[in-house]
Amino acid sequence: MSQSLINGLDPVERASRDEILAMQLERLQWSLRHAYENVPHYKAAFTAAGVHPDDLKQLSDLSKFPFTVKTDLRDHYPFGLFAVPRDKISRLHASSGTTGKPIVVAYTEADVSMWADVMARSLRAAGVRPGMMVHVAYGYGLFTGGLGAHYGAERLGCTVVPVSGGMTERQVQLINDFHPDAIMVTPSYMMALLDGFRKAGLDPRASSLKFGVFGAEPWTNAMREEIERSFNLDATDIYGLSEVIGPGVAQECVETKDGLHIWEDHFYPEIIDPVTGDVLPEGAKGELVFTSLTKEAFPIIRYRTRDLTRLLPGTARPGFRRMEKVTGRSDDMIILRGVNVFPTQIEELLLATNWCGGHYQIELSRAGLMDDMTIYAEARSDVWTDGGMPDQGAALVDRIKNTIGISTRVVIVGPDQIERTLTGKARRVVDKRPRE
Ligand code: DLL
Repeated sequence: MSQSLINGLDPVERASRDEILAMQLERLQWSLRHAYENVPHYKAAFTAAGVHPDDLKQLSDLSKFPFTVKTDLRDHYPFGLFAVPRDKISRLHASSGTTGKPIVVAYTEADVSMWADVMARSLRAAGVRPGMMVHVAYGYGLFTGGLGAHYGAERLGCTVVPVSGGMTERQVQLINDFHPDAIMVTPSYMMALLDGFRKAGLDPRASSLKFGVFGAEPWTNAMREEIERSFNLDATDIYGLSEVIGPGVAQECVETKDGLHIWEDHFYPEIIDPVTGDVLPEGAKGELVFTSLTKEAFPIIRYRTRDLTRLLPGTARPGFRRMEKVTGRSDDMIILRGVNVFPTQIEELLLATNWCGGHYQIELSRAGLMDDMTIYAEARSDVWTDGGMPDQGAALVDRIKNTIGISTRVVIVGPDQIERTLTGKARRVVDKRPRE
């Protein structure tokens, strides 16, 4: 890759907005045709909506095309939406989902290579440079996190340490012994590693880590500050989803840390009103929708991510638009007695305390007609003794009431009491309300 880099950037990262727009139109026309001609589902869906790929004359014409939703993918399990013969597929991944069958996604060799390119670009934007050592603690396997990070770091020319998730003590030891420059992991698991450092009697600020590339779950700027302060590193946000490619759809630039630049030469974003489906103007908050522009094996047209954000003009990479940090999915929104709450709002208040390290879980239950929220908040190991700690729950209940406007119960638990998942993605909400 290094030969094609100008001053360290991929040439397209220096393209003007107009150049990107022209490239998108051509690629979008190709992608719609590719999906229509090779995937029966898309041909049927376009026909039912009365549109044909030839109807796309300008980018805004995309709004005439039908959305793709998660159930479309489930309904064609496992291989029904692939656009190339099985023997042209070099990789499969799957996202577990919460219920039922997983969603299976496929890559040709060219798709894997494009993915490695956008991941290498993302790592570079995060501050990582060729020759650095990268500790990958995203899970390897069907989850796209581990292998996506791995191929990207290799493509950039880094030394990759493919640790995968889990076994916190060992991870701490490897970081301490190998001296990696960068780490790629979910933000919640980074907080578990922080506990691991403290438990091992090691100073996390003295670790070799200089850059952290965190994603796969919503996290707040409050958590960024906590991670940066605790480890003395630069933390940036990486976004992606299996259906679109995996990690590397969008990445925050370390010099600005102002939201994530979307790699729009491969992924075309729209923001829609989640209720009406109408495309919203730039700057308005709504549901993020993606269309792939270059993918061969698994083209995806107007996929509704359910992630809520807004589009903003580019800064550090002016040709590409940014997306604001995703603070929640429409699925995660809790409506508690008429008030809308996202787990990240609770996270901000927990991290503002002097005792919680950011591990928490929200339990919803129903007594009679009323919904109740209980927040299980884990105390940091340095404030927790065998006898527990002075109760801070009441103060937090008050803060939540005053800032978010809801009445909750707070239960403070000791270190390691909140579950850690295998993928490293924290499960923030446990809904115990009876199904209607
Ligand atoms: O989580 C891909 C990934 C791996 C991204 C590693 C970043 C790092 P899925 O398992 O398919 O893929 O889950 C995708 O996770 O729709 C969002 O709801 C959420 N998500 C991913 N990145 C972020 C982020 C991977 N930076 C789903 N901020 C997405 C908030 C995120 N949510």
